[in-house]
Amino acid sequence: MRIVSGIQPTGKYHIGNYLGAIRHWIKLQEEHECFFFVADLHAITLPQDPEELKKATLQKIIELVALGLSTERCCLFVQSHIQEAPELAWIFSTITPIGELERMTQYKDKKNKTKDSANAGLFLYPTLMAADILLYKAEGVPVGQDQLQHLELTRETARRFNKRFGETFLIPKAMVPELGAKILSLTDPKRKMSKSDPLDSQILLLDEPDAIRKKIFRAVTDRGTVVSYDPAKKPGISNLLTVYSLFAEISVKEVERKFAKKGYAVFKKALADLLVRKLEPFRRKYAELASRDVYVQEIIKQGAKRASSVAQDTMEEVRGKVGFLQV
Ligand code: ADP
Ligand code: TRP
Repeated sequence: MRIVSGIQPTGKYHIGNYLGAIRHWIKLQEEHECFFFVADLHAITLPQDPEELKKATLQKIIELVALGLSTERCCLFVQSHIQEAPELAWIFSTITPIGELERMTQYKDKKNKTKDSANAGLFLYPTLMAADILLYKAEGVPVGQDQLQHLELTRETARRFNKRFGETFLIPKAMVPELGAKILSLTDPKRKMSKSDPLDSQILLLDEPDAIRKKIFRAVTDRGTVVSYDPAKKPGISNLLTVYSLFAEISVKEVERKFAKKGYAVFKKALADLLVRKLEPFRRKYAELASRDVYVQEIIKQGAKRASSVAQDTMEEVRGKVGFLQV
């Protein structure tokens, strides 16, 4: 299967991003033809400091490689290196009814937050996302719950284009993970762990061991003393159980059994130890890659080259179908 997905470069990656998205990318690359990118074009729909954006984009490529994306097994690139994506997004914008874009909940949320300063890019965001996906004729798109509405619009865009200009695009399917699709905040386990929240509510992938221990130790748990999974009544401890289960690669039931008579404190200490141990190789790999500029540049160049060659083929076909004069 051909698979495409993107992640924005803004903010720092936390274990929610890893368990909900990146972890699956690493698995998918083993069996499928994958295109993964850092979505810097989408990031500028909110104001960004140019120097910070460059730094963040580079850092995210390094993090993705350090986590296990392999340039031999997948195509890893920076979205803005592929000029065909905004070109295709423009064409899609001319076949997308305004009303459909107005219905997007992410647009409505962000527009309300930015009030008068909401820009047209925020509105057209889903047409660019459709272009990212359809350009590579993807069959599967691994995303979190929050992106499902955009994916539905992408499918509709593909159908609409095919109907008007002839069969061109595949209709891609969303791939949403069963477990880990929503890791909760450590300080407020009713909400999802999010980059835009205070740092003590999230475990960052690059957190130092001390910070990890402190945050887990202070994580909000529920009344009682028994380590048991009950998301409705015990959201805090259930969230920590999910995290343990996913990092240890054992079922939640097994984790419950392991800590059945041990109480919260012992469980938290074991979870902190596990996270420190599991994230240690990542921090080491990250530091090593961060000092290898030339190697990282080469990864980025190779990714752009490979993605471009697929994108160019699709666009050549699209330009002809839409009626643009070829030279
Ligand atoms: P954030 O909300 O932290 O800013 P993004 O919206 O940039 O994260 O999401 C990047 C990817 O990580 C998406 O695929 C999203 O579904 C996933 N993701 C984000 N937060 C979580 C979470 N708490 N649990 C599981 N997956 C998450
Ligand atoms: N909009 C996605 C997010 O905020 C990122 C993204 C951009 C994406 N283009 C994509 C995800 C294409 C999947 C496929 O998380």
